Amino acid sequence: MIKVKTDHVLRTIDMAQFKEQVARAHSLIEERNGPGGDFLGWAHYPETYDKEELARIKAAAKEIRENYDVLLVCGIGGSYLGARAAIEAINGLYGKGKPEIIFFGQTLSPTYVKQVLDYLETKTFAINVISKSGTTTETAVAFRLARDLLIRKVGAEKAAKAIYATTDKEKGALLQLCKKYGYERYVLPADIGGRYSVYTAVGLLPMAVAGIDVEAFLAGAKKGLELYGKAENNPAYEYGVLRHVLYKAGYPVEMLVTYEPSLVQLGEWWKQLFGESEGKDHTGLLPDSATFTTDLHSLGQFIQEGSPVLFETVLEVEKPTMDITVPHDEDDLDGLNYLEGKGLNYVNSKAREGTIAAHAEVGKVPNILLNMEKMDAEGLGELMYFFMRACAMSCYLNEVNPFNQPGVEVYKKNMFALLGKPGYTK
Ligand code: PA5
Repeated sequence: MIKVKTDHVLRTIDMAQFKEQVARAHSLIEERNGPGGDFLGWAHYPETYDKEELARIKAAAKEIRENYDVLLVCGIGGSYLGARAAIEAINGLYGKGKPEIIFFGQTLSPTYVKQVLDYLETKTFAINVISKSGTTTETAVAFRLARDLLIRKVGAEKAAKAIYATTDKEKGALLQLCKKYGYERYVLPADIGGRYSVYTAVGLLPMAVAGIDVEAFLAGAKKGLELYGKAENNPAYEYGVLRHVLYKAGYPVEMLVTYEPSLVQLGEWWKQLFGESEGKDHTGLLPDSATFTTDLHSLGQFIQEGSPVLFETVLEVEKPTMDITVPHDEDDLDGLNYLEGKGLNYVNSKAREGTIAAHAEVGKVPNILLNMEKMDAEGLGELMYFFMRACAMSCYLNEVNPFNQPGVEVYKKNMFALLGKPGYTK
């Protein structure tokens, strides 16, 4: 269970005051009758997911693991951030996994795209192309290039067998490609938006290929639904209310702080979830993220003594995936023998304690603490559900639709017009 600790929030917040607002927002989520109600398929997905599709995902993952050096995951935004966050959080940054997972289709950088394609020249690879609309430019361009390379290397027939697509069940350009070339196909349900899709094939296929126990991940999500899907005594809603109160108290920025480099991508996923859901109608918190202690040596000064614009949400993971002790040194020239025999987790946790006290008590930066036991597949499945529920709650408290992203379309229209896409004018 995720514990929300409020000792360093620097104010007393009476949750009872928000009882009615929370109950109303909870009912909008459960009854699916608020703004964006058609996109609440994720809320009970940990119970309702397609078991037959999960079996196909596991079979495909086995096939990919046995036959290819690389899985190229082509997707952007909600169509890749969840899988990337989960793979790094659970496997770490230098896991021994095979095949290698490369994320592609999330950029228009010619250098990145060309370097990946050059790297693949000497590798065997499969592609998991993920796009609900099937028309996202970054993903579609990358997929066309990767597919061309694959066909050139292995021929059209083998290439078609090495392509796995995740898209809408009934519509879109990618669905047409699947039908024409017979790619293995998985569904991103119509009632689930990209940033809420990590429990679907969008997240599960790349995760399964990375060797992650996807059933444990879904079991964590189900536990999340039990703990954070209820109207009362709900820590996710409590966190949603805290964010709302701090925003109204004059803090426009929330910084998610972790103490693990393998959680950088979790921060990216979290930023998309909250930023794209909440940043509307000229309201909402700016989500930012930082990895300590690394970023204490860059952003630490600003947080401690800069403009008082932010509060921190610190993710405390009790048990690290691995630990290592500081060894004895005869000369002790580096003066570290006082740490001899201590685990790095102990040192890291003392750094965290000291930093929270420095930022909150001295710097007067409110700190919300989210405490969890372990960052394994089950723990992460639960944590992501916690954040999704908290996000829906925060948005409804702010009276915005958590599930659309009208602002994202503006740049696309401009870009299409400038590129001369048929139907778009400058
Ligand atoms: O959260 C979202 O809905 C977006 O980030 C989308 O996932 C992203 O724009 C990619 O869209 P698509 O899956 O249609 O290619």
